Amino acid sequence: MKVIVLNATPRKAGNTSQLLKSAAKGAKEAGAEVEFIHLYDLNFTGCRGCMLCKRKGVERCHCYWKDDLTPIIDKIFQADAVFIGTAIYLGRPTSRYFELLERLHFCSLSYDDYSNYFTGKVNVGLFVSMNASQEFYERMYKEKFEDYAKELTMLGGEVTLYPCYNTLQVPDYSKFNMASFDEDKKKAIHKEIFPHDLENAYRLGRKLASAEQ
Ligand SMILES: Cc1cc2nc3c(=O)[nH]c(=O)nc-3n(C[C@H](O)[C@H](O)[C@H](O)COP(=O)(O)O)c2cc1C
Repeated sequence: MKVIVLNATPRKAGNTSQLLKSAAKGAKEAGAEVEFIHLYDLNFTGCRGCMLCKRKGVERCHCYWKDDLTPIIDKIFQADAVFIGTAIYLGRPTSRYFELLERLHFCSLSYDDYSNYFTGKVNVGLFVSMNASQEFYERMYKEKFEDYAKELTMLGGEVTLYPCYNTLQVPDYSKFNMASFDEDKKKAIHKEIFPHDLENAYRLGRKLASAEQ
């Protein structure tokens, strides 16, 4: 059982990364071999439109543009599960997330009939952290993020979306112009709710990486 964990958020010790680390721990304890990758450490871009993946006779589900993402795309298609984490930036996933998805999705898409070249099964955990409350998420973001999760069904496995609300963005709000946030409330949520999110991420990681899947 091989699990690839992709942090598509720049902060290595941030909320998203912590969720992914918990999920990775769950997968490891289920017996999986886990590789954790911070996408912001790598040098890559989104799809360059080179069209090499659509050439006649070439290997499918392989991105031919050579940069740091190329081997990772190969690893994703060969994995049993992939965990992807993104913060919500301006109502959507981060730019790194989109760069990843352009490359991953396009090289498995047939331009003959728009079918999916990928016939394997990779379970996906999509972890999304945000400032927003659950109520705001459900009203403003949920539908969109369910669509992003749906896109990942191209990997043929079970896709689970885990939203984590009301995260602590900075340790000391008094040092920033961030008056729209209630620091005491944020800190209370971080202390009381976030540990449950980490526990849920652990359980989800364990489940998605378990052999019964
Ligand atoms: C550029 C930027 C844009 C953001 N936009 C949103 C947003 O639209 N909605 C939201 O709920 N949170 C937004 N946030 C807050 C982050 O999603 C939230 O703090 C998240 O938990 C950060 O993840 P991290 O700790 O892993 O970096 C934004 C943060 C940044 C830096």
